[in-house]
Amino acid sequence: MSSEGLHAPRERLSRETLSLHHAIVSIMEELEAVDWYRQRADDCEDAALREILLHNMREEMEHACMALEWLRRNNPDWAEYMQTYLFTEAPITEVEEEDMGRAPGSNGGGGDGGSAPAGGAGRGGFTIGAISDNGEG
Ligand SMILES: [Fe+2]
Repeated sequence: MSSEGLHAPRERLSRETLSLHHAIVSIMEELEAVDWYRQRADDCEDAALREILLHNMREEMEHACMALEWLRRNNPDWAEYMQTYLFTEAPITEVEEEDMGRAPGSNGGGGDGGSAPAGGAGRGGFTIGAISDNGEG
């Protein structure tokens, strides 16, 4: 199997890191294909061929989402962020602010402490300690 795209010696990478790499590279390829198909469809003057290209584009979206779901099921960090951001309705930067305001050890970040992003209740383990500690302690 190719080690293209690895940024450290393969023998130093864990099985988990290699699996995540495979998923991430696959998602990148699927998203690139989505972009290619859409551009080709825009540029295509034959209506029937354009529909085929758009159909193929949607299949690549499906492939990308399948691999994203694999990431969610197999990596708690991905799962955490997906739970925070995906399928929410509030402005995305407000979702981030609310999430940071609820982080353990934070100063609240201006939040009222009583609200949570949609779908984000009961999440555990997220911390911004490495950012907010700033060398203290
Ligand atoms: Fe695909």
